[in-house]
Amino acid sequence: MKSSANPGDLVEVHLSKTIYEGTLLESSEKGIVLLKLDTGYNIGFNKKDILEIKVLKKASLKTEKLEIKKDFQKPNIALILTGGTIANRYDSKTGAVAPLSSPEELFKFYPEIFEIANVAKIEVPFMKASEDMDYKDWQKIAKITKELLNDSNIKGVIVAHGTDTLHYTSSALSFFIKDLNKPVVLTYSQRSSDRASSDAALNLKCSALAAISDIAEVMLVGHGSTNDDFCYAMPGTKVRKLHSSKRDAFKVVNAEPFAKIFPAPAGVHQEGARTSSRPANTESGGNRIEILREYNLRNNKKVKLDLKFEEKIALLKFYPGQDPNILNYYLKNKYKGIIIEASGLGHVPALTSKNSWIPILKEIVSKGIFVGITTQCIYGRVDPYVYSNLRKLHEIGALFLEDMLAETAFVKLGWVLGHPEWNVKEKMLENISGELNDRLGG
Ligand code: DGL
Repeated sequence: MKSSANPGDLVEVHLSKTIYEGTLLESSEKGIVLLKLDTGYNIGFNKKDILEIKVLKKASLKTEKLEIKKDFQKPNIALILTGGTIANRYDSKTGAVAPLSSPEELFKFYPEIFEIANVAKIEVPFMKASEDMDYKDWQKIAKITKELLNDSNIKGVIVAHGTDTLHYTSSALSFFIKDLNKPVVLTYSQRSSDRASSDAALNLKCSALAAISDIAEVMLVGHGSTNDDFCYAMPGTKVRKLHSSKRDAFKVVNAEPFAKIFPAPAGVHQEGARTSSRPANTESGGNRIEILREYNLRNNKKVKLDLKFEEKIALLKFYPGQDPNILNYYLKNKYKGIIIEASGLGHVPALTSKNSWIPILKEIVSKGIFVGITTQCIYGRVDPYVYSNLRKLHEIGALFLEDMLAETAFVKLGWVLGHPEWNVKEKMLENISGELNDRLGG
């Protein structure tokens, strides 16, 4: 089989019964032809099975010279790239992804963000899938964020991050950063920039608008619906990933979003939505920010950090029939605190059950290990006073953590236990960064 096709070309691969269309990739395996399909997936063929490779469109050979015009009318923002789909570019020749690390590259892939602001600085502390991150990565991001927030040339900071554990990082930044003066926006994409269905452009536009707004909060900004129409700016300690693939993967839980953000449609004159000195809806150049609740206003404070963190902590999900001896692992390995994602109002087997957790939990608590109870329900709060088995758990010293989300409670516990001088129970029930919402009903 002879073909004039080169990597990067749009081709049709003809097999005896089927024809596949996609972008030809460089293949490292002899005898194998690799194709990137429209769905984003790669498919490999044995050369001997191919009847013909028909070129539909040659890859563009011209090397574009990218020039980003700085627009001094536009505000400067900074971007921290940490990994995930949003921070990678797709190479049409190899099919591989590599990090975007210069303003020029960023401009090529995401020109939309530059319609709203100058991306004056890009920092790349590491490139990781977010499931590979831990508290040390959260600390690194916080340190860079602080430097950028204290730079008078920068109006706001965007952190581009994988989706899977983004809400852990947003919680960590909410506790680590003190005296916040400007917006800190965490954003993502579920689908890569080479796919027509990518959510990256809208999320970045919304994030740029949030970063230059007067909302001085740690917030997660992303699609508000499955359409490409608006985003929510969501509080960093009250948000969860609730869908594994949809664009509106994140939802605020047990609270309200700060705002709805409507970027101007393409082609409409764009500039940042004007900021005001008090919480108010803003509209400018076709961009609109609709405020939904009160927030901390942009100010002139100098940001400080409190990065202390105890790593011997665990988050444990209860399931029916679970052997409570699993808790002995934490006891033996000298853990300092455990968050239990219990069922419903905060239940684990107690009283008469043969699998009662009460004796082991009693021992754990008596050894000074903190036990916090959250719910594995998506919404709502725990309550130790409704059933007698809940009271039992309460009596042995487990702390019911109100409406705090389990992931947030886990991050907060590490941070609180990092301060041995603090009263852990008091601090866990003190609303430090919007993690508790007493206005939420029972
Ligand atoms: N596993 C994902 C992560 O959280 C990669 C894809 C994404 O960006 O969500 O990093």
